[in-house]
Amino acid sequence: MKNPDKIELANIPTPIQSIFFEGFEILIKRDDYTGIEWTGNKIRKLEYLIFDALEKKADVLITCGGIQSNHARATAAVASRFGLKAILYLRGKEPKHFDGNLALDKLFGADIRFVTQEEYDNIQEIANKEIESIKKKGLKAIFIPEGGSSPLGIWGYIECAQEISKQLKIFKNKPSHIITAVGSGGTLAGLVLGKKLYGLKSSLIGVNVLKTSGDFEKIVCELANECSRKYRLGVKVNSKDFTILDGYSEEGYENISKEKLELLTYVSQDYGLLLDPAYTGKAFFGMVDHFIYQGNEFNKLMFIHTGGVFGIFPKLKKYLDTLDNSSFKV
Ligand SMILES: Cc1ncc(COP(=O)(O)O)c(C=O)c1O
Repeated sequence: MKNPDKIELANIPTPIQSIFFEGFEILIKRDDYTGIEWTGNKIRKLEYLIFDALEKKADVLITCGGIQSNHARATAAVASRFGLKAILYLRGKEPKHFDGNLALDKLFGADIRFVTQEEYDNIQEIANKEIESIKKKGLKAIFIPEGGSSPLGIWGYIECAQEISKQLKIFKNKPSHIITAVGSGGTLAGLVLGKKLYGLKSSLIGVNVLKTSGDFEKIVCELANECSRKYRLGVKVNSKDFTILDGYSEEGYENISKEKLELLTYVSQDYGLLLDPAYTGKAFFGMVDHFIYQGNEFNKLMFIHTGGVFGIFPKLKKYLDTLDNSSFKV
C-alpha cells in the first residue's frame, strides 16, 4: 500500500505524555504540538491537501468553518506559506472585534467572508460559483471541505494511527480506549481505517461537539469507505468499529458550560494542559465523565489532544471567571 504524496509540514511524530487524573493514568497524544501556526489535527490533513493543490497548480484555497474554525486558520497559514490566497467562508455574523483564530486568519492574509447558516448549508454551490469567477480571471481555485475531511485529507489520521501503533510498541500496558473530539468526522474516520490497517487494538471513541451520534455513525463510515474504495485499501468500515459518546455539547458548539470550564481550568492549573472550549474541552470532559466518574469499563485511556488553543482567547474571561479566588498563593 502506498500513501498518497504529501508535503511535510507538521512536527510529527507528536509525543505521548502521561498524566494521572483521579488516580488513573491518561496518555495524552500531543497533536497540539504539530506546529505553532497550524497547531492541532488539521495540519495532518492539510499536508496531503496542499500537495494535491500545488500539483493542480492552484492559486487559491477555498474552505469553510465556524467563526473560530481551527481548520480555516490552519488553511490560511498553509496558503500564505506557499504564496497562495485563502478564501474562508465563516458561519456567523462579522464580530466587532477579531480575536483568536479569526484574528490569525486576518494576519495570514485570508479573504474572510461571513455567511449565514442557510448560505453555509449550500457552501459547495457558493464555492463552485467562486471557483468559476476566479477561473475567469485566469486563476485556479480549489475547494477544501469543512475540516479538511475528504478521502484524501483523512490520510493524515490513517498515518497518525500508524504512528500511535509504532509508539505504543514500547508500552507494556496499552490503552484500551483512544478518545478524540469529532467535528467533521475526518480525524475519527482516518483513525478507524488506520486501526484496521495497522492492527491498533484500542477501541476508538469520538465525542461529537455538534450533530448527533447517528449523524456521525453515517458520516464517519461513508468517509472511511469512500477513502478505502478510492485508494483500494481493501477494508470496510461499519458503525461497530467505533463509538460516539453523544450528549457532551448540549450548550452548543460555540459555547461551553460552567461545569466544563471548571474542569478545564482545573486541568490547566494542575496539569499545565490547555483545552479549548469547542473541541478538546468537551471531549476531555466527556472522557472523564463517561469512564472515570460514571465508571464505564476501561483499562487505560489515551486522549488525542487535537489542538484548538487559539479558541481559548475569545472565551478567556469565562475561563478566568471560574478560578477560585481563595486558591493557594505563594
Ligand atoms: C481542535 C479540534 N479538535 C478536533 C476537531 C475535530 O476533528 P474532525 O473535524 O476531523 O472531526 C477539530 C475540527 O473540527 C478541531 O479544530
